Amino acid sequence: DLVYLNGEYVPKSSANISIFDRGLLFSDAVYEVISVIDDRLIDMDRHVSRLERSLGELSINAFADWTAISQYLVAENKLKEGLIYLQVSRGVMDEREYRWPAPDTPPTIFAFAQERALLENPMANRGMRIITRPDLRWQRCDIKTTQLLYASLMKMEAVAAGVDDVWMTRDDMITEGTSQNAHIISSDGVLISHQLDRRILPGVTRIEMLAQASAMELMVEERAFSIDEAKNAAEAFVTSSTLLVMPVVEIDGHRIGDGKPGDQTGKIRQNYLAAVQ
Ligand code: PDD
Repeated sequence: DLVYLNGEYVPKSSANISIFDRGLLFSDAVYEVISVIDDRLIDMDRHVSRLERSLGELSINAFADWTAISQYLVAENKLKEGLIYLQVSRGVMDEREYRWPAPDTPPTIFAFAQERALLENPMANRGMRIITRPDLRWQRCDIKTTQLLYASLMKMEAVAAGVDDVWMTRDDMITEGTSQNAHIISSDGVLISHQLDRRILPGVTRIEMLAQASAMELMVEERAFSIDEAKNAAEAFVTSSTLLVMPVVEIDGHRIGDGKPGDQTGKIRQNYLAAVQ
């Protein structure tokens, strides 16, 4: 397996990073996960825009041909279906220090390819089961940082509870999943999706999903929804680069609709896949 590290393509066993990298010591790093279907990168331009925004919010100076790197890794690793992971940290310090190193410190940039079945995911037929937990992350969830410890703890709570994921809440309002945006369709047919603010990641998949929902003439409301609204919704689903559009059939032990993946969700998933492929 060939990976990318600071301008070079090397075997994964020889890609080494300093223990003084700020990504390691301070999670001073941002990342992107881009899905690959039929050896093509999905929605790459939007991932690049978001990466540049994340870098800008943290004043990390990093420039690279993100698309060319990703395409090269897909080709070299003969990746048919899966993902590209791209990470950029502020770079290496001389010693552990909160203050940033000089602005001309080179960032650490790396990327790798990972195989994964995206289209043939059994969850698409059975639907996901969700529990809710308080969202105790910081208040800049709009930046795609590698600070993923809380999300990872919540994923393990889901595993311990025998369900698929956690939807996190602030003041009883759902923000998002551990690594997906959360959406519902109310019983009167309105698609409700949290507004873009500092509480959620602006999902790349969410943008195209909303475009497809509008094309289907679904009414869309971008606002936060409560746990109760979610439990009483006709349908629920998540979006992410790796899950695409994935139905949710249970929240906190409460069945959504008839407990099967929703019809509108299924259509949105189909139309989404047709649009990006
Ligand atoms: N996660 N919200 C959070 C907190 C996420 O981590 C992600 C993506 C999303 C969905 O964003 P997008 O549609 O751009 O993938 C929402 C990636 C897949 C991950 O960390 O693996």
